[in-house]
Amino acid sequence: MHLTREESEMLEGKLGSPVQKSMELLVRFGEIYGAERLTSVSSTHLVGGSIISDGKAAALYVEELANKGGKFVVNTTLDPGAIDPFYWRDLGISEECFRDQLAYSKLYKQLGTIMCHTCTPYDIGHTPRMGEHIAWGESSAVAFANSVLGARTNRESAPTAIASAITGRVPLCGYHLDQNRYGAVKVLVSANLEDGADYGSLGYFVGELVQDQVPVFIGIPPYVNADQLKALGAAMAVTGAVALYHAVGITPEAQTEEKAFGPKRPGESNIIEVDDREIRTTMEKLSTSSTDEVDLVILGCPHSSISEMKDIAELLSGRKVASSVELWIFTSVPVIAYAERVGYKDAIEKAGGKIIRETCPWCWEDRILSRLGHKTVATNSAKSANYIPFYGNDKLMCHFGSTKRCVDAVLSGKWR
Ligand code: F3S
Repeated sequence: MHLTREESEMLEGKLGSPVQKSMELLVRFGEIYGAERLTSVSSTHLVGGSIISDGKAAALYVEELANKGGKFVVNTTLDPGAIDPFYWRDLGISEECFRDQLAYSKLYKQLGTIMCHTCTPYDIGHTPRMGEHIAWGESSAVAFANSVLGARTNRESAPTAIASAITGRVPLCGYHLDQNRYGAVKVLVSANLEDGADYGSLGYFVGELVQDQVPVFIGIPPYVNADQLKALGAAMAVTGAVALYHAVGITPEAQTEEKAFGPKRPGESNIIEVDDREIRTTMEKLSTSSTDEVDLVILGCPHSSISEMKDIAELLSGRKVASSVELWIFTSVPVIAYAERVGYKDAIEKAGGKIIRETCPWCWEDRILSRLGHKTVATNSAKSANYIPFYGNDKLMCHFGSTKRCVDAVLSGKWR
């Protein structure tokens, strides 16, 4: 691989051991994936950040980098952690986990992370522009950055994204290159798509079929919003490994079908049709509960944006969460601050909902939901619905549907 003089000096250790170690990792990866050179990145987002999901070995690695003077040289944000700093006791999180998470987060701060613990950094101002080379982890954020923003990233692991944050470089391969960003599969959508859950179902269905290829959607309505595109990408990254999709007339690299496919033309076997039946079947597949009972409603996977907070606040306004149900909404601190200023936080909390910051259940200690006595969880997120039955050792039941349906369940305690 060709390295510039500065990059060679990094590799030789002239800029210290964290830079050297990071450069070794990037060069190794670049060679494996056939990159001819590295390119500069302007932004990284780190998948990980939870001491529970990442584990002690990751913490030791981050500690070593921090103690040896490692510093992030580009804007770097971080995925959710294992605790809400205020509600952790109510959520059944242990004292040990609380302490370990604070220590782990402190190391990231020392490295120079913009401390946010969110999986939607693009909602809080960490928003790369079209064509910008970045090194992001977190599958839903990668899909959003590549597809909706038109930035360029591969699905980075935690160590490679950290290495990019320390060196400001990434191997020039995969989705950093034009030729790999063209569509490979045509998805003809005639389904009626209204709520984020419809888009999540669409993504869940298509992801399973296309796996790691680039799908091009034709028929997504022009009034689709960013939250719905977020739900689409998050779900495709669950059943497939989709890091980039195009929606003709909507996403920046797909203003026309020709632009989306470039020189590639999908054959007959690479055309998928999706109508209302596929959406309905996928929703049924993700709804594993056979009763109408609900005892917990989870919203905010990926973390809620301010517009999603607005929708929830309006649906709840002046009403009360049923005594048999809990409502948890996951989001970031800046979104909470904004929601507080414009009254959404108050409306949600007065109704009895909990706004939980900087974390999500999938970053927690095992079996917390079951230990808190929850049996049936409702959600508007296909990603959550996929994970709920496999969370911990107890098989939790799930209802999956629109935000409105979830809020109705919060108010009545029944899934209708
Ligand atoms: Fe984000 Fe957790 Fe969902 S990291 S995408 S809220 S599983």
